[in-house]
Amino acid sequence: MKKLELGKSGLQVSEISLGCMRMDQLSVQEANRVIQNALDLNIDMFDHADIYGKGRSEEIFAEAIQMSPSVREQMVIQTKCGIRDGFFDFSKEHILSSVEGSLKRLKTDYIDILLLHRPDTLVEPEEVAAAFDELKQSGKVRHFGVSNHNPSQIELLKKNVKQDLIANQLQLSMMFTPMIDAGLNVNMEHDPAIVRDGGILDYSRLHDMTIQPWSPFQHGFFEGVFIDHEKFPQLNEKLQEFADRHQVTKSAIAIAWILRHPANMQPIVGTMNQERLTNIAKATEVTLSREEWYELYRVAGNKLP
Ligand SMILES: NC(=O)c1ccc[n+]([C@@H]2O[C@H](COP(=O)([O-])OP(=O)(O)OC[C@H]3O[C@@H](n4cnc5c(N)ncnc54)[C@H](OP(=O)(O)O)[C@@H]3O)[C@@H](O)[C@H]2O)c1
Repeated sequence: MKKLELGKSGLQVSEISLGCMRMDQLSVQEANRVIQNALDLNIDMFDHADIYGKGRSEEIFAEAIQMSPSVREQMVIQTKCGIRDGFFDFSKEHILSSVEGSLKRLKTDYIDILLLHRPDTLVEPEEVAAAFDELKQSGKVRHFGVSNHNPSQIELLKKNVKQDLIANQLQLSMMFTPMIDAGLNVNMEHDPAIVRDGGILDYSRLHDMTIQPWSPFQHGFFEGVFIDHEKFPQLNEKLQEFADRHQVTKSAIAIAWILRHPANMQPIVGTMNQERLTNIAKATEVTLSREEWYELYRVAGNKLP
């Protein structure tokens, strides 16, 4: 498993991170096997959120791994805050109390990276800055970032926030590519030319923020996994052809496609299946050619101008 640096933080993490959104559905023993398998594959970064399983995902993670200072040192833990029941909340009070909850559930005294989960239109950057200062000074959070944010929302935060924002978690898969489409269709009159994210891909590269693609196997908004889906026969045929060529699985090719982009992205995969994760991890050994990358983009249903 190769490593990448998150932003310009100096923090080196595995190129693939394990998303723990669905961990609440496992038993403690199953969760233990999933986490241990990830660590054996040298996947050392785990993505959480205060809301996953209403807090149960963080809790079972710590229980399963029997969290202790020596266990904690082997891993990089990221969690998120700001989504509440029916609204978003980037107030200082909520950020601080959310982190306290995560620390307690994760049985740790620090979070490596805290992300603001989804933009809050009532955000007051001064409040976020005050919360981040307190969390940084107390050592409770080491690094900060965002999720589902566009460039101007990041700039607005930066008006007051002093810490570097090192990562932005955004939906991206071979079958969900708005951030890529717009840049390929500049000044055209059809749908793919619509900039839906303020140009986040180029912004992230210019500002050294790591994009963390979430749901890298889903099409649409949680509409299902495209691998082996009967609706996408040509894509699956091509994935199989490249999988055979590179001696990996189709899932590994889908992740290699993301890793091939020079934006230095870190996909967050959500499988809780050990065999699948073991196969997906092989993606970091595959470098797709430029031709292969574009062929997959086209067979996924995209047209080039
Ligand atoms: N920031 C945000 O707003 C946001 C939103 C959503 C998710 N996330 C993060 O991103 C992580 C990944 O999201 P996700 O779980 O939706 O993404 P995903 O990795 O695209 O999907 C994983 C799901 O697909 C299933 N699956 C079925 N066939 C598969 C195959 N061939 N290869 C891989 N998976 C297959 C898995 O089941 P098995 O477990 O049975 O393999 C699992 O339920 C989450 O855990 C969370 O940490 C962030």
